[in-house]
Amino acid sequence: MPHTTAFARNQWYVAAYTYEVGRGLLGRTVLGEPLVLYRTEEDGAAVALSDRCVHRYFPLSESRLDGDRIVCGYHGFTYDRTGTCVRVPGQKRIPRTARVASYPVVEQDLFVWVWIGDPALADPGSVPRAPHMDSPGWTTVSGMEPVDADYGLLVDNLLDLSHETYLHGGYIGTPEVAETPITTEVDEGAGVVRVSRHMDDAECPPFYARSTGVRGRITRWQDIEYHAPCLYLLHSRVAPAGVPPEADGSDPNAFHTEITYAITPSGEGAVYDFWAVSRDFARSDDEVSSFMRDLNHTVVMQDVDALNLLQRALATGRTGHQELSINIDTGGLAARRILARLAEEGDKPVERAR
Ligand code: FES
Ligand SMILES: [Fe+2]
Repeated sequence: MPHTTAFARNQWYVAAYTYEVGRGLLGRTVLGEPLVLYRTEEDGAAVALSDRCVHRYFPLSESRLDGDRIVCGYHGFTYDRTGTCVRVPGQKRIPRTARVASYPVVEQDLFVWVWIGDPALADPGSVPRAPHMDSPGWTTVSGMEPVDADYGLLVDNLLDLSHETYLHGGYIGTPEVAETPITTEVDEGAGVVRVSRHMDDAECPPFYARSTGVRGRITRWQDIEYHAPCLYLLHSRVAPAGVPPEADGSDPNAFHTEITYAITPSGEGAVYDFWAVSRDFARSDDEVSSFMRDLNHTVVMQDVDALNLLQRALATGRTGHQELSINIDTGGLAARRILARLAEEGDKPVERAR
């Protein structure tokens, strides 16, 4: 039996990075809806339309732009930026139903967010924020990997970082990650799960040793903030062991890294894994940027391989298998509850904490 987590349709999802959307046509599938994305000449806005021509279903992402209009690559039906068909071949009369769906878009924090559900409920003010992605004071490296797994498996993966010790040992994992207990806080109303793990005296994994230059034991904090369904933030603090933040809350002797994921269900058993690492140190050091990009990509691929494997194992196993959950799963279980509620609520968007 395939493992599937129901989709919450009336929510914002990341379809792309802002830098991926330009004057070419980009095809992406979100919640099973094929989309074509591009940027207009007129005002530089990102546009998301259905990626299927109304005539014979040809993918518009495999077609071409004429100004801000898409000309279908098969027989030339032409659509404006609102999805309205403005030209058909061989006749003057354009059928009244000749239009493709257009989806609300918000560009914010380096992400292109789209709304697949009821457009009347799309409130741009409810898009969760990740300001470090695109603000002075931070340098960000980013990428995206498609995974052939239920998006719920990626949520599980990210909410329980004890797997770093085993799956990512020698990269970002050390024994202390799995050994240190977590605290979990759940804000059901806002749809936010927080999982924290503060290690006072830990080994420094290569990811931080090489990027920060810190030698010896470290204080390592991992504070997860998951805004269901799509945005995952991991606030990471690394400092030489025994160095606390200042009494006034400032923290000049620590290295801060914001690890951001956008978890976008593409279809059943398929998810886009958008990942980014933002840092507040060595900001213009290109070597640190490429090191962090390469190492994090390796780590992401370790997760991708594990999740692909897990999805196949779940699909071929006997039906009705029982999971066994322990303390480390508290955050993941809370996230599943919230996702189930958001999917069930259907037409009611979640009220966001601002
Ligand atoms: S399929 Fe697009 S014009 Fe025929
Ligand atoms: Fe991982």
